[in-house]
Amino acid sequence: MSTVAPLSGSRPAISRARDTEDVAVGQEIVRHRLASRRIHWAVAIFFFVALLSGLPIWTPVLGWTAHLFGGLSVCRRLHPWAGLVFFVLSLVMFLHWRADMRLEPRDRDWLGPKAFRYLRYQDDDPYVGKYNGGQKLFFLAVSLGALGLLVSGVVLWFPTSFPQVLRALAVFLHEITFILFAVAIVFHIYLGTVAERGTFGSMTRGTVTRSWARLHHPRWYREVTGEGPRRG
Ligand code: HEM
Repeated sequence: MSTVAPLSGSRPAISRARDTEDVAVGQEIVRHRLASRRIHWAVAIFFFVALLSGLPIWTPVLGWTAHLFGGLSVCRRLHPWAGLVFFVLSLVMFLHWRADMRLEPRDRDWLGPKAFRYLRYQDDDPYVGKYNGGQKLFFLAVSLGALGLLVSGVVLWFPTSFPQVLRALAVFLHEITFILFAVAIVFHIYLGTVAERGTFGSMTRGTVTRSWARLHHPRWYREVTGEGPRRG
């Protein structure tokens, strides 16, 4: 019988990740329990349904995405409902993660050149907890963006109930928000997959390796494992 260890994720760690997080299990650490992962993926799915059903309404240049849902008229009916579900799920995600995402004074540095240093792998901050400042700001932006899309979307959904000036404002807010959102998501997907090896598994299996945690979130690593800072 083969005794080869699984390539990624040990069974005990994966089963602990069903209902627990922030615990070390052997060589792995549970980062996102199942509930967190389910919420994240539900938000992501409805984000893309709302985005792809909204694009053909926005411009005929992107009309081909309407075929994914059965045509433009389906998109017109589907889009506001998908957007509404996306908002409700984003609200659930906000409530679920808000304690971990509380901004600390040091996180303010992320509004400056630190973010660029991070993207170029030149950052080494031993105080980074479970989420770094960039992740917290992204979380905040996602939550505010979802609210902006809801408010402007409701005006566009019931245009005859609102004055012309409000409708024009809503169009502007809806467009600028979804464009910024889509750009941010491209970066988010890049960082969560190819840029940082081992991160994607935290949202699938729920676990990361000890070395991943020590490298990217050293304070969280110390809190979870009880190990002191490294010397030398
Ligand atoms: C295919 C698409 C996506 C992939 C591959 C992906 C991947 C990930 C991963 C791996 C994490 C965990 C990062 C960590 O533990 O350090 C994460 C966290 C998160 N994701 Fe996504 N995600 C996707 C789509 C989305 C979408 C569409 C949204 C919002 C509309 C979103 C919002 C978030 C938020 C708020 C977090 C927590 C903050 C952070 O870690 O940046 N994700 N995602």
